[in-house]
Amino acid sequence: MKSVAALMAEKVVCLVEEDRPDARRLANGHALLRTLAVGVCGTDREIAAFTYGSAPAGTDRLVLGHEALAEVVQTGEGMVRLRPGDLVVPTVRRPCARIECPACRVGHQDFCGTGEFVERGICGAGGFMTELFVEEERYLVPVPPAIGELGVLVEPLSVVAKAFAQLDASLTRLPWEDDGPRGLVLGAGPIGALAAMGLVANGYRAVVYSREPDDGDRALFVRSVGADYVSSESTDVPGLVRRHGRFDVIIEAVGVPEFAFKTLPALAANGAFILTGIPAPRPAIDFDACGLMRDFVLQNQLMFGTVNAGRKAYEEAVRMLEQFLILFPDAARRVIGRRIALDEAPALLRAAGGGEKTVIHIAEAGTATRGEALRAAG
Ligand code: BGC
Ligand code: ZN
Repeated sequence: MKSVAALMAEKVVCLVEEDRPDARRLANGHALLRTLAVGVCGTDREIAAFTYGSAPAGTDRLVLGHEALAEVVQTGEGMVRLRPGDLVVPTVRRPCARIECPACRVGHQDFCGTGEFVERGICGAGGFMTELFVEEERYLVPVPPAIGELGVLVEPLSVVAKAFAQLDASLTRLPWEDDGPRGLVLGAGPIGALAAMGLVANGYRAVVYSREPDDGDRALFVRSVGADYVSSESTDVPGLVRRHGRFDVIIEAVGVPEFAFKTLPALAANGAFILTGIPAPRPAIDFDACGLMRDFVLQNQLMFGTVNAGRKAYEEAVRMLEQFLILFPDAARRVIGRRIALDEAPALLRAAGGGEKTVIHIAEAGTATRGEALRAAG
């Protein structure tokens, strides 16, 4: 059975033969799963460059892959909902073991306060760029067959769904209706595209601000879902505000602080600035902290970061995908820009990210027959 692994000690990313999980001894509430597809993002490339992530304790090998779509092959005792053949998306983060972490103790490990959580395919636990894996039912989110391959977008979309849920919670501080709220998305990569679709679907007038040209493919994509596109190469932030006004919410999806903080003057009074990108550590930058503090206080503004997602956000992401398939069927399918085979993954992970969502195709759905399950067991 093949997996794509980063070998920490030797600093290589390669295909390795892994042992098959032993399906004869599936623990209570666990399932054997076949990975159908795995998405690749900047986090995977950073792990492949050995600047992020960690191997499971006591090992020096990390199986990559955290954005997966899988099929249930076999279920252990005590399965409540899942049956062989069901499509699922595994969540990424597993709780820390500390009783003093109230978030992890109630299943909200995306808010873990100790930092001792593990994330499958990222830090401390093997991921899903592999043919078969075992997981507990509570970490598997069902995906309707109609969503099919697009289910591989559920994990990145769960990050957006969590951001929206946090935004909704923050909006309880403004107990009035805002008709025609305006949203700005920074960055036109996969998360930016999904966030723009989410804003449009939620009734926002949405604009995407990114460095790609005003007449490029990204701009066309963004306009096709009913959002506006403005290139940061041709329009500066004052120009953006002159054209579109200020924004009630800004969703940052690039991870470049110079770009993000430059757009703060585009945030409206009472607005929320949401950070989702994770820049690699580097030296401090010059930045108008006085202006930020003045504006945030004098205009009741709010800034928060959001990482990972809980089960509810995954379920919401599934619902959002169903909605996107009705509202913008072509665009929803075009979020996946490229499909490759497992063998091509090591090279892809070492190459610079092109910005489009690349998906590693691993198996066809519908192969989780009883025969397969038995072969996996033997
Ligand atoms: C993943 C999250 C994860 C984060 C930090 C992101 O790429 O989508 O699930 O929590 O990286 O490791
Ligand atoms: Zn990711």
